[in-house]
Amino acid sequence: MTKTALTQMLDIQYPIIQGGMAWISDAELAAAVSNAGGLGVIAGGNAERHFVEAQVDKIKTLTDKPYALNVMLLSPFADDIIELAIDKKVPIVITGAGSPGKYVERLKEAGIKIIPVVPSVALARRMESLGVDALIAEGTEAGGHIGELTTMALVPQVVDAVSIPVIAAGGIADGRGAAAAFMLGACGIQVGTRFLVATECNVHKNYKDMVLDAKDTSAVVSGRPTGHPVRILKNKLYRQYCDLEKKGASVDELEALGAGSLRRAVVDGDVVFGSVTAGQVAGLIKKEQPAKEIVGEIFDECEAIIEKQYRWLCDK
Ligand SMILES: Cc1cc2nc3c(=O)[nH]c(=O)nc-3n(C[C@H](O)[C@H](O)[C@H](O)COP(=O)(O)O)c2cc1C
Repeated sequence: MTKTALTQMLDIQYPIIQGGMAWISDAELAAAVSNAGGLGVIAGGNAERHFVEAQVDKIKTLTDKPYALNVMLLSPFADDIIELAIDKKVPIVITGAGSPGKYVERLKEAGIKIIPVVPSVALARRMESLGVDALIAEGTEAGGHIGELTTMALVPQVVDAVSIPVIAAGGIADGRGAAAAFMLGACGIQVGTRFLVATECNVHKNYKDMVLDAKDTSAVVSGRPTGHPVRILKNKLYRQYCDLEKKGASVDELEALGAGSLRRAVVDGDVVFGSVTAGQVAGLIKKEQPAKEIVGEIFDECEAIIEKQYRWLCDK
């Protein structure tokens, strides 16, 4: 069951990608996931080339398995990170928060597999016509920058619209979510929020604790007026943001309040006035575990649940 178009295309054991997470998914987390049989991803985030380059150099010392580099297209350094991927012969580039159209040809020429994250059928179709290798259809349940459609509605529509492999993301944290993604036609899953609490994840302990303490309604959306909504856990920063919004603050004022706030939470552990980005599944996540255990548990549970449901249907 774990052999799918994704495992074959990327030469990995389990059809799971660890979502790139700005300022968080470094070489250590990515290598742990790759060594566990999934695809580990280093996040470029908003960081400058030298910062990301150090992580790419490091991962080569930690694993000989495939890994990817996530390029956040809103970053002012996106061009530099693409150049870095080409110079360092990174095997796979995943792009988030926009269209990577202008980079596709160069990446393909360099022999790099390219997998964009898409929030809609229109972008999925456009990406397929440019020749990308696969797509990640990410629903609004996810942590990070989000679109409008839910995973349940988006994934089957993207699957029907394209003929390249589709990976589901957003709201998947356990075997039940993985099984559902396969039922929707995905050939793999991308998981971010659950890996926030991986033992190898170097995010600040306060951040991990806030994810572990989250309940079903803790994750909310901030930043809609700026055109770049982000899913975060409710805290004082979120309330300040809402107050400013109600007072009719300008986009510049709202952006100023959010500037540097993810790094503040991730690195300094300021979970009160920092941005604690996480998805709606945070409420499902109850313990810190090594990445290998997380990957193994998701697929053991997934196989068991598919078998159980199949028997249940046969007995009807
Ligand atoms: C803290 C955090 C930071 C993220 N940063 C990025 C990013 O830099 N680039 C990107 O493409 N996606 C980013 N994402 C989205 C993830 O890669 C992944 O698609 C998403 O987390 C999957 O949904 P889930 O959170 O429900 O598991 C981020 C998600 C989280 C939780």
